Amino acid sequence: MIKKKIAIIGLGYVGLSLAVFLGSKFKVIGVDSNKNRITALGKGISYFYEPKIKFYLKRAIKNGLTFTDKIDREIISCDIIFVTVGTPIDKFGSIDLSNIKAVSSDIAKNLANAKNKPTIVIKSTVIPGTTLQVIKPILEKYDLKESEDFDLLTNPEFLREGSAMQDTIAPHVIVIGGSNQKAIQKLTDIYKSAYKKKQNIVETNNITAEVIKYANNAFLATKISFINSIANICQKLPDTNVDKIAEIIGMDPRIGRQFLKAGPGYGGSCFPKDVQALINFAHNIGYDSVLLNAVKNTNSSQVNAVMSLIKQNIKNLNGKKVAILGLAFKENTDDIRESVSTKIISLLLKNGCKVCGHDPKAIDNTRIIFGNKITYTKSLKDALTDSDCAVIMTPWQEYRNIKEKDVLVMKSPIIIDTRRVISMKNKDITQVSLGIGK
Ligand code: UDX
Repeated sequence: MIKKKIAIIGLGYVGLSLAVFLGSKFKVIGVDSNKNRITALGKGISYFYEPKIKFYLKRAIKNGLTFTDKIDREIISCDIIFVTVGTPIDKFGSIDLSNIKAVSSDIAKNLANAKNKPTIVIKSTVIPGTTLQVIKPILEKYDLKESEDFDLLTNPEFLREGSAMQDTIAPHVIVIGGSNQKAIQKLTDIYKSAYKKKQNIVETNNITAEVIKYANNAFLATKISFINSIANICQKLPDTNVDKIAEIIGMDPRIGRQFLKAGPGYGGSCFPKDVQALINFAHNIGYDSVLLNAVKNTNSSQVNAVMSLIKQNIKNLNGKKVAILGLAFKENTDDIRESVSTKIISLLLKNGCKVCGHDPKAIDNTRIIFGNKITYTKSLKDALTDSDCAVIMTPWQEYRNIKEKDVLVMKSPIIIDTRRVISMKNKDITQVSLGIGK
């Protein structure tokens, strides 16, 4: 049997995870306009940290996975072309489609002289209507027609950073949006042969698939803002613990246990951007969502809840050494996009603090923002020694293992735990946990 040929355009978390997963089963070509990334990937080096990705990358390269920085005839000759480029937001909070438009235009140019009929699969998160109203007209520019010259599907992705490979290997659902049954079947067959186990594959139209992705992320963001509101209430109520409350309400199957971990607010490359883009999109079609605005505002004010805890426990911040434990927006990643830690660091610097940032993986990325305005260390001991306060921002495993003796090296052992990962009994240690009332 001839191996199906697949191209994946845009090698961020979604594109690269998919490329290295499918790369061990099909002939896959990964495309990214960033030459440095392509060179590194060709050598089996991922340009970002993600558990297990190195292993899958090396395995896929052995199986024939290749990389290029150009969309050319070779790409167009593929059976399936996944588009996984970034869709950031612009300065007004609306989706910026420039990457996906440029890629669609390149595909169209090459498709104009091609003989085969690829199935183009939009995996990037795009605002409802984009696949058919924006991408399709670009692809049809050179007298090409959907269904005759190419097929166009929408296939959103739900993977999380930090567990990107695990989520790619075992997705909870595969959503395929489109109108051409043959094309839907072609993509379904690819997925069926890629996965050992039977997958939950649902078919719908393009626009519904687009809405599903936003609704999914907005709902998860809502859960987090909700539990953060409960945490802030608990903070003022002696003898309450938000985790206990989350655990019990999570037993109600109508609520569910997941995404009820209170913290400093959600960050990352998806939730903040997608909630904002959905707010703007809804506004543009005539609906102002009170709920989504509240989710967003609750999230952006959570940083103040953390600052209040710091200020309540250190009377005068000026000149104090504060250790920020965790710079990445979540554990198991080096990504600091929209990380609340960077916001806290900026506020602490404004208050005249000396900040020391600690993270097992995200120091290089943080240095790009703060340069020598703060100090950095990978040693927890160095971060804590002589500091006036430590703030746990990211639930890295390393912080769960912090012992009382580790904290006692601090000048004043005050520890603010925004993720409730430690529990100190020693009377010389002041531990304040977000969402636990005292
Ligand atoms: C998210 C979605 O989960 C994923 O389906 C989508 O494809 C991309 O966006 P990601 O941003 O990678 O994934 O990580 P996620 O685990 O969802 O965490 C997002 C943020 O929410 C992090 O800052 C995390 O710390 C925070 N979070 C998550 C909480 O504060 N509490 C929770 O219970 C869960």
